[in-house]
Amino acid sequence: MDDVKIFAPASVANVGPGFDVLGFALEGIGDIVKARRVTGKGVRLTHIHNDGGRLPLDPAKNTASVAAQQVLEKLGIRGEGIELELEKGLPLNSGLGSSGASAAAGAYAALKLFGNGQNKEEALEACVKAEGVASGFHADNVAPALLGGVVLIRSYTPLDFIRIPFSASVYVTLVKPDIEIRTRQAREALPRKVPLAGLVKNTGNVAALVSGFFLNDPATIGKAIDDCLIEPVRQKLIPGFREAKQAAIEAGCLGCSIAGSGPSVFALSESKKTAKAIGEAMRSAFTAKGLGATKIVSCISSFGARSM
Ligand code: HSE
Repeated sequence: MDDVKIFAPASVANVGPGFDVLGFALEGIGDIVKARRVTGKGVRLTHIHNDGGRLPLDPAKNTASVAAQQVLEKLGIRGEGIELELEKGLPLNSGLGSSGASAAAGAYAALKLFGNGQNKEEALEACVKAEGVASGFHADNVAPALLGGVVLIRSYTPLDFIRIPFSASVYVTLVKPDIEIRTRQAREALPRKVPLAGLVKNTGNVAALVSGFFLNDPATIGKAIDDCLIEPVRQKLIPGFREAKQAAIEAGCLGCSIAGSGPSVFALSESKKTAKAIGEAMRSAFTAKGLGATKIVSCISSFGARSM
């Protein structure tokens, strides 16, 4: 295979209380990487489209090329390299796993070009290292972007994860207010220590979330999207978050929280009609606070990075 075109989806990380340990892939939105084998060493990034000129073309700084380079090194490829083109479908600093989608697409492209049937899961470490370059060491965006579905990160050292089967139909409403939050800054804003009672509450809710996914039980999932540690700190970075969340609850969502490190907000529901109504209610709440906002209705996708 000499050239590939790979799509990798957006993702919702944390899913409320599962800070750095839980995430799911989204349907229909993501980034695209076009890649081809070239003579010469390493990875070259030739073009980035739809980023407004904001992302680095330096291959050592872009998650797509860093992830591809990591895969080449893992596979021990020396005499050949890769030329990459990145097409951003996701807004930057949005909480939708934009850098993670690029990393997953870059890693999978390299695996397809040189991997000879290698297992996709083997590229996860490369994606996590790439994400570390852009926004800090965490796997809860890159794992679902690469593998699809719902993924639990059980451990970081060593990296270990569990793919959680989930097949119930659940809609995901995403509303992104017109501000940006850099994940690195949103991580730096977090407390280094958390109260024991909060830990107990969040641990119970993460366990309930995992049970809810395994049991295909949207009501349990919704109830467990209750984060008493990270959301109260990060909501201060999102004007109108409390009002938007209240609007989502009144419009009938199962559960609602910050998507990743924000500013996007996600809410789950069981019908498309409700999902759309939630989007409108949250958008209006942000508008009332003087912030424009865009809304999308998606769902949890079982597919991660894939050829187009
Ligand atoms: N778990 C990461 C965080 C996800 O919340 O910082 C970033 O999208």
